[in-house]
Amino acid sequence: MRPMRLDMAGFTVFREETTVDFTDADFFALVGPTGSGKSTVLDAICFALYGTVPRWGGTRGLANALAPSANEARVRLVFESAGARYVATRVVRRDGRGTVKTANAGLQLMPAGFDVTKLDTGLSPEDLGEVVAGTPAEMERAVLEAVGLPYEQFTSCVLLPQGQFADFLHAKPATRQQILVNLLGLGVYEEVQKRAVERAGHLRANNFERWLLAEALDLLVDGASRILRELSNGQYDLVHDKGEFFVVDHHDAGLRRAVRTLSGGETFQASLALALALSEQLAGMSTTAASLESIVLDEGFGTLDAATLDTVAATLENLAARGDRMVGVVTHVPALADRIPVRFEVRKDARTARVERTGL
Ligand SMILES: Nc1ncnc2c1ncn2[C@@H]1O[C@H](COP(=O)(O)OP(=O)(O)OP(=O)(O)O)[C@@H](O)[C@H]1O
Ligand SMILES: [Mg+2]
Repeated sequence: MRPMRLDMAGFTVFREETTVDFTDADFFALVGPTGSGKSTVLDAICFALYGTVPRWGGTRGLANALAPSANEARVRLVFESAGARYVATRVVRRDGRGTVKTANAGLQLMPAGFDVTKLDTGLSPEDLGEVVAGTPAEMERAVLEAVGLPYEQFTSCVLLPQGQFADFLHAKPATRQQILVNLLGLGVYEEVQKRAVERAGHLRANNFERWLLAEALDLLVDGASRILRELSNGQYDLVHDKGEFFVVDHHDAGLRRAVRTLSGGETFQASLALALALSEQLAGMSTTAASLESIVLDEGFGTLDAATLDTVAATLENLAARGDRMVGVVTHVPALADRIPVRFEVRKDARTARVERTGL
C-alpha cells in the first residue's frame, strides 16, 4: 500500500477540505507544532482503509472521526497496491439524535494508470473504477485483499502509530508469529523450501510451517540486529530465544537481557531496527510484498542524541533510496526533517488544520 493522495473534510481537526498529495513523495516528513494535526493525517489514511484508528481504541470510537462541532466527516484515499490503483472512501454522519454512523464506505479499483489529478478536473465515464466494496460491511474483506494486511498488522508494520512503536518488539510470541504469517504470504514457502532442501532433513511436513516461521524470524532478527548494532554504535545485538527478544550488551561483557530493560531511546532504536528489518527482509521473501510498499513512523526521534539521529537518518535515506517503498516520518526534530526531500507542513488555527507541501 502506497498512498497517492488523501482528501479530508470534517475529519477531526481538518474541518475544512484538505488535500495531501503524496505524488513522488518517496521520502517525506510530516512536520509542525504539537497538536497541529500530523498524526491525524496518518489517522485519516488508516481510517479510510479500516474505519478506525489506533488511538480510538476500537471501532466504538467512531464518533471521534467528527470534530465536536461537525456533523459530517469525509475521507478519501487514493492508493497504489501491487501496481493497481484504488480509491477508498468513508463518510461519517451525526444524525438528529446525535448518533454517529458510517453513511458511506467504498473501495474502487481504478482503471490502469488512473490519473489522480482527474479528481480535481472531473472524472469522465471511462475513469470510473470497478466497485470492489460498496458497503461498510464489504470494506473489510476488500481492503484486506487490496492491502494484504488486516488492521492490527497494518498498524504494526506500515503505519506505526505514535506511542505504539515498541508493540512488535514487546508483542507476545504468538502475536508476532501471526504477523509474520500474514506478511509472508505463500511465496515464502518456495524460497524457504529451497533453503530447506539445501540444508536437507528439515522437510518433515508437520514441522514445516513452524520451522518456516522460525527461519523467517531468524532472518528478521538477523537483519534487525545488524541495524541495531549500527544504531547503537556497536553496543547491542538483537537475538531471540523461544520467540522472546533479548539484547546482547557488548558494553556489559556481552551479557543477554530482556528488551524490556532497554531505556526509552534504546527501545526506540530496537523497534526501529525491527520495523526496518521487517520492511527490508520480508519484502523480498513475501508474495504479499505489496503490503510493505511503505513504512511511516510517527515520532520517537526526539529521544535520540545527535550522533544516533544521524545514523537513523542515514538508514532511512538508504531505505528510501532503494526506491521500492515509500518512507515517511513524523518529526519535531529539525536535524532530521531538514534532510528529507519532501515535507508536509501541518498548521492549525482556531478553525481548522491545514497541510502545505514544501520541498520537491
Ligand atoms: N477526535 C478529535 N476531535 C477533535 N479534535 C481532536 C480529535 N482527535 C485529536 N484532536 C486534536 O487534534 C489536534 C491534532 O492532533 P494530532 O494528534 O494530529 O497532533 P500532532 O500534530 O500529531 O501533535 P504531536 O506533535 O503532539 O503528536 C490536537 O489538538 C488534538 O487534541
Ligand atoms: Mg502526533
